[in-house]
Parts: sequence; structure tokens; C-alpha cells
Amino acid sequence: MAAVKIEGKVLAQQVKEQVKQQVEQLKQQGIEPCLAVILVGDNPASSVYVAGKEKDCNECGIRSVIHRLPEKSTQQQVLDLLQTLSKDNTVHGILVQLPLPSHIDPQKIIEAIPPSKDVDGFTPVNVGKMMIGQPCFLPCTPAGCIEMIESTGVDIAGKNAVVLGRSNIVGKPAAILLTAKDATVTICHSKTKDLQEKCRQADILVCAIGKAGFVTKDMVKEGAIVVDVGINRNAEGKLCGDAAKEVEEVAGYLTPVPGGVGLMTRAMLMKNTLVAAQQVKL
Ligand code: GUN
Repeated sequence: MAAVKIEGKVLAQQVKEQVKQQVEQLKQQGIEPCLAVILVGDNPASSVYVAGKEKDCNECGIRSVIHRLPEKSTQQQVLDLLQTLSKDNTVHGILVQLPLPSHIDPQKIIEAIPPSKDVDGFTPVNVGKMMIGQPCFLPCTPAGCIEMIESTGVDIAGKNAVVLGRSNIVGKPAAILLTAKDATVTICHSKTKDLQEKCRQADILVCAIGKAGFVTKDMVKEGAIVVDVGINRNAEGKLCGDAAKEVEEVAGYLTPVPGGVGLMTRAMLMKNTLVAAQQVKL
């Protein structure tokens, strides 16, 4: 039996529809939610991602302001812009598109974002709150993964979850969020022994390593939920995930690439921006 596709497009549309309605309500109270995005340099993939975020903002009625800085900008110039945006009461969410040029320390930049405007959930304050289960901005990709898993109706509690990848943006937070949902979580990475065997134990397999077709069907348990976070180009230049096509023969549920996690990530960003604007009134 072929895996059931978890349609990111449909789920993301539902989230954005809800956001749009609540944005309308805020506007009636005189608050126009606004997301400021900082893009340094001209990384082609980043430019595509930022354009996608702008489109989503337009759909949801959120004002978006994109600050495009030249590749040669200094760290101080980015910090100065962040300070201006931090003080600007009309800006509710701030996102600095990663990766940054190599002469800029991403951690220094992230730490300059006020936690109350950190709609990416990357600041140490939000990461810490997530760790101990306090309300906070959750990072968009892992939060989107959880929504996609829950959309299957399968209860996460008690399941074996394996997260492939340990990045700060996806792997580590995905493991924390799955633990908070009472899954038994294993994080696997490049040094993991018996990777294939560990993956095969997974009822839920989150693939976030960034290698096209790395996860083959012999690594997947029959009926497992496979969440494919990878956005890679294969030898023919076609967009593809970390899971090989054959995985659909064994998985119970599978998120497609494209049209899966990426769209949900963007929808979660809209949700976080809405919440940031709502909290201004509190
Ligand atoms: N680059 C790749 N993914 C992300 C993300 O979720 N947020 C930001 N700011 N940059 C990214």
C-alpha cells in the first residue's frame, strides 16, 4: 500500500485562513500586524524563501517589510538595523534570514532580536522556554512538523520517534517538541552507529539531514509516519527531500517535497507573527 500523502498545501491553507481572520480582528482594533525580514546578500535559495514569506504575509493581511542588505554589510550594520526594528512599535515580528555571510556571527545577530519579536523562535530565551514547556514562540519548521504528524490522527504519545539531524533550527527542537508530546525520542546524526536499525524502530521518522534520497525503504518501518524536512536538488536539478521515492512503498504517511513541510513552516511563521501582534495589547 502506498503511503498517504500529508498535504502541506491544504494544512497550510487552513492555518493561514485562521490567521487571516484574526488579523482582520486586530486591524479593527487599530493594530496592523507587521513582519520585518532582514536578508543579507543574495543567496538564491534565501531570496526564494523570503519571496514566499512575503506572499504569505499578503495572503494573511500582514504587512511585510523586507530589508535587503548587501553581502558586504558589516555585523554592526545588521545589529544597528535590528536595534531600530526592535524599538519600532509598528513592527511585531523580526526574522533574519539564515544563512548569513560568513563574516557575520549568526548567534550575535540572533541574540539581538527581542524575544517578544522573535517569530522564528531562535533566541536563547525562546529556546529555553521551549525546553521547559513554557509558552513561547516555537521554531516554525519543527512546529509545522508536529502539526503535520497530528493531522494524521495518530497519537504521538508513547510512539518511538527518530529524528535524523541535530541542527539548532530543526533536529534539536523537533526532538524537544516530540518529547513534550510524550514520544520516546532518539536523535541520530553523522556519528550514530547502526543508523539503519535505529530508523527502522521509528513509528515517526523526521528526516532533516539535507541529503537527497538518504533515507531508503529498508530504513523505514512498515506504516511509519515519515516527515521529510529535506529540500535538496537531485542530479537532474529537481527539488527532492531526504527520503528516496521508494519510501512511499513502506511508509504509512509521508510528507511530499515540494508541497510538504516547507509550506507548513511558512504558515507557522504567519501564526507566530499574529501572536506577536496580539501580545502587544496585553
Ligand atoms: N533559513 C532556513 N530556514 C530558516 C528559518 O526557519 N528561519 C530563518 N530565519 N532562516 C532560515
